[in-house]
Amino acid sequence: MLTLIYAHPYPLHSRANRALLEAVRDLPGLHIRDLYALYPDFHIDARAEQAALADSHTVVLQHPLHWYHAPALLSLWFEKTLAYGWAYGHDPAGQATRALEGKRLLWAVSTGGAERAYQPEGYNHHTMVQIATPIQQTALYCGLQWLEPHIVHGAHRLSAPELATAAQGYRARLQAELDTPSPQER
Ligand SMILES: Cc1cc2nc3c(=O)[nH]c(=O)nc-3n(C[C@H](O)[C@H](O)[C@H](O)COP(=O)(O)O)c2cc1C
Repeated sequence: MLTLIYAHPYPLHSRANRALLEAVRDLPGLHIRDLYALYPDFHIDARAEQAALADSHTVVLQHPLHWYHAPALLSLWFEKTLAYGWAYGHDPAGQATRALEGKRLLWAVSTGGAERAYQPEGYNHHTMVQIATPIQQTALYCGLQWLEPHIVHGAHRLSAPELATAAQGYRARLQAELDTPSPQER
């Protein structure tokens, strides 16, 4: 199973992420958790989140880039869900806990900035590889496999045909992930 963690603080104003989400919604084996719909009060049910991740071989984090990182509720989700004694650390008996070890993580992010803006000489000064670092290292710390990110640049300037192409590309990417055998099946 593939669990898609969706975090858009302004879903009714979304054009790009909404189109991408609608393009994958009916994929068999895909489970979507819309964080802002589930937790409008920011009271995250960590056990429910952990149970969803435990059942998945791939986790997708889909969100718009907001101030060069994840929207606030997704940052809180990392804090609450990737807890000591579950994602890392030890249980009360002293056994190491690595609940996510070997699972795959796909970062699916949209940006307002164009690809050329995410270069050392561009106005954002940093590449997307650099911007990804905190999320990538969080994944690696928890033993997740970091997949090549799925980035949609210049998201609010895409024409309708460009957005449709991006949405179909996202669907193909997630379908390929769903077709990837889990470690137990290999
Ligand atoms: C509060 C806020 C912060 C943003 N910060 C960034 C940013 O740091 N870098 C960037 O490229 N775009 C930034 N944007 C633009 C969004 O990433 C862009 O509008 C979004 O990816 C488009 O997707 P959507 O149609 O699903 O909202 C920001 C937008 C908002 C509202």
